[in-house]
Amino acid sequence: MEVLLRKFEEKDIPKLISWIPSKDFLIQFAGQAYQFSLIKQQLKKDIEEMEMKNNNLMYKVIEKETKNVIGHIQLIRINTIDKTGAIGRLLIGDKSTRGKGIGVKIVNQLLDIAFFEIGLKTIRLNVYDFNIGAISCYKKVGFTIVNRIENKVEIDGEWRDCLVMEITLDKFLKLRQKDTFTS
Ligand SMILES: CC(C)(COP(=O)(O)OP(=O)(O)OC[C@H]1O[C@@H](n2cnc3c(N)ncnc32)[C@H](O)[C@@H]1OP(=O)(O)O)[C@@H](O)C(=O)NCCC(=O)NCCS
Repeated sequence: MEVLLRKFEEKDIPKLISWIPSKDFLIQFAGQAYQFSLIKQQLKKDIEEMEMKNNNLMYKVIEKETKNVIGHIQLIRINTIDKTGAIGRLLIGDKSTRGKGIGVKIVNQLLDIAFFEIGLKTIRLNVYDFNIGAISCYKKVGFTIVNRIENKVEIDGEWRDCLVMEITLDKFLKLRQKDTFTS
């Protein structure tokens, strides 16, 4: 399946919310950025901020062929002075579409924007240590674990660690070159 990233708009909010079944899943998907009961208002506010400042870009993920909206991703904490940014709030809505390599494609497209359109040099992300699928996806793209924050969040009565992962422009370019030579 080929995917495209397009600007996330107010009309896309209900679909995104429909993919979030519980408070725990919201934490897995977005950390502590949103509150379950307030997410609609918080997403609206984020869209307004995206229009005003340029430090957060929100995207819906579209299936190229059908034009169906299938997911979400954000480039957050964009700092054009430090040339850093972070990936956040990545989600493929339909469970049966996960684990088939689409996450890797989405993250690669966001990195293209971050590195080649905006000119950033380092991209980080936070992921909970129990999120094996997401960690495999990020490793496959080329991210490495650079830090572990212990006891970051309580889920189901258990305190869980958060991993900080990172990829630099240099590494991304090297992996691209390797892909070009091997494909
Ligand atoms: C995170 C997410 C977007 C990743 O997208 P995805 O399409 O499922 O990931 P991919 O299939 O591209 O993952 C790449 C690799 O990880 C593997 N993988 C995916 N899910 C896995 C799992 N649960 N256990 C082990 N490996 C897994 C895939 O098999 C693939 O490896 P392969 O190509 O060698 O088979 C998706 O799983 C999702 O929406 N999860 C729920 C929301 C969430 O947790 N977001 C992350 C916030 S940090």
